[in-house]
Amino acid sequence: MAHAMDDLVTEDISEYLRRHEHKSMLRFITCGSVDDGKSTLIGRLLYDSKLVFEDHLAALEADSKRVGTQGEGLDFALLVDGLAAEREQGITIDVAYRFFTTDRRKFIVADTPGHEQYTRNMVTGASTADLAVILVDARSGVVTQTRRHSYLVSLLGIRHVVVAVNKLDLVDYSEEVFRTIETDYLAFASQIGIDDVTCIPISALLGDNVTTRSDNTPFYDGPSLVQHLEEVVVDDDGPGKPFRLPVQWVNRPNLDFRGFSGQIVGGTVRPGDRVRVVPSGTESTVARIVTADGDLDEAAAGQSVTLTLADEVDVSRGDVIAQATDPPEVADQFECHLVWMGEEPMLPGRPYLLKIGTRTVGATVTHPKYKININTLEHEPAPTLELNEIAVCNISTDRPIPFDPYVDNRDMGGFILIDRYTNATIGAGLLTFELRRSQNVHWQATLIDGAARARSLHQHPKVLWFTGLSGAGKSTIASLVERRLHDLGFHTYLLDGDNLRHGLNRDLGFTDADRVENIRRAAEVGRILVDGGLVVLASFISPFRSERQMARDLFDDGQFIEVHIDVPLAVAEERDRKGLYAKARRGELSNFTGIDSPYEPPRSPEIHIDASATSTEDSAERIVAYLLEPGVLRD
Ligand code: ADX
Repeated sequence: MAHAMDDLVTEDISEYLRRHEHKSMLRFITCGSVDDGKSTLIGRLLYDSKLVFEDHLAALEADSKRVGTQGEGLDFALLVDGLAAEREQGITIDVAYRFFTTDRRKFIVADTPGHEQYTRNMVTGASTADLAVILVDARSGVVTQTRRHSYLVSLLGIRHVVVAVNKLDLVDYSEEVFRTIETDYLAFASQIGIDDVTCIPISALLGDNVTTRSDNTPFYDGPSLVQHLEEVVVDDDGPGKPFRLPVQWVNRPNLDFRGFSGQIVGGTVRPGDRVRVVPSGTESTVARIVTADGDLDEAAAGQSVTLTLADEVDVSRGDVIAQATDPPEVADQFECHLVWMGEEPMLPGRPYLLKIGTRTVGATVTHPKYKININTLEHEPAPTLELNEIAVCNISTDRPIPFDPYVDNRDMGGFILIDRYTNATIGAGLLTFELRRSQNVHWQATLIDGAARARSLHQHPKVLWFTGLSGAGKSTIASLVERRLHDLGFHTYLLDGDNLRHGLNRDLGFTDADRVENIRRAAEVGRILVDGGLVVLASFISPFRSERQMARDLFDDGQFIEVHIDVPLAVAEERDRKGLYAKARRGELSNFTGIDSPYEPPRSPEIHIDASATSTEDSAERIVAYLLEPGVLRD
């Protein structure tokens, strides 16, 4: 297959280079379970396309002898599984992009690990692919992992699937086995909307139907895998889409030049084109398209450029420069598909970071609508999401963001969720549409604002957020502080966890998800009371750092005072005024903080009280003293 080009190399090098240059490019991913033989397949593709360099080959032969999984033969998986750790474990643990070429086409293949928890890597690899090769072990057939990967492939917008039924040599090249898998897969694929499926019986190890047709499968009259990859027609609709440039940075080397740099993710642009900056909505005209190799007359999706505009407009990182006649939408509430990748479950209401294009904003899943059972495709309730689960959710961002639905533009509608503390990617999502209510509900301005209310009460409103174990003394101390402030003429309100749970939060229990919602509501009420000018004392176990941070973020700088009422668990348990610790120990009460539900102590609270060594009165006095410092509650 590579021969015609080989000859050309010696006969007419410039013609060779020209043809090579003009070959089309196919990006594909491979997915399968750990032992399906993915690495072996990719290794063989690289080997057969003769792009494995001599020194790699020598190393491969040596390695194959040493590891010895294939006797005297070459172990192609070793070509791909570059990392020593992986070789020892026999699994592939990261996305690797491999390049290879044949006479007809150039290929970029994302090798995505098949281990269950590495769905994340698969999503990463799939997001730029035109086609997916899904490996199925002939001995196990279509399994849950096959379905999950196929579902993701379909969700991520890949329209072409090759099912490589691998290890056919191990089932004696049985037509029956192949046909059963083919039928099973086609039935599933039609349910999830994958129309273009090609099933090919192969042995990656022995090479059957990989590059050339095999005599071992007379029942199969379709193309070999490589032939199919060379011939499959994938439409590249990028250039036809409306122009989009998410701004990565504002390039301002001197006062005379102001350019906006980034990679074009949709359409084409020319000098003179009318553009709109989103979300601000300002319009201008493209003056120049600047690149390292000089100015361009036109640039298209995939190219990285710097644009200058005819007018002085305010553009910052994260903004999108778009075709004026067809700009992206701007919203802060969406329906989305979400693939959960965190070890910790997703909790509705918990603050996360959402990165879309070049913009990162705060976000929470406001309402998980349902998750998808990957085997039956049924919709199931989703109070939380566990690792690898796929759900449809409502999500809201703390600022409006420019976006296009994922089906229209993968870059403008695909996002990841990031943990605020570990910075790990914990979810990947696709925006489906904006929620209408985000368009129809506007903030209503009032004639009297929080500052005016505070002035008439002659105080600086604050929230004192008491956190600590049950029985630490939070409510008792908060109540003593309130009485002192009240006596001093301050206007106060005490928000207590137990009390709120009698009314507003009556529907909530003590699961992690319910506690997140409990604190979200409590913090929102606190914000309203502070806006009303009051000094608020909020007393909640509030065991999670994330939600205390979420509460803090609702207030202006300096308005939120975190008070940790700190006692060792043993002391709280010893006191056990409500008898709840005893119940929890007897197993009559589950999810009890400190027993079978965690408490994450604050790292740097404004006030820390060692409540095992301080009386409640003294604790209250210390807090009052803090509040009476000039400038805190009054000037
Ligand atoms: S929080 O964790 O969501 O902040 P909150 O402060 O509202 O809790 O309520 C805690 C109070 O509920 C405790 O003081 C205790 O009286 C009661 N309670 C009942 N069950 C539990 C439980 N499983 N864990 C903690 N507190 C509980």
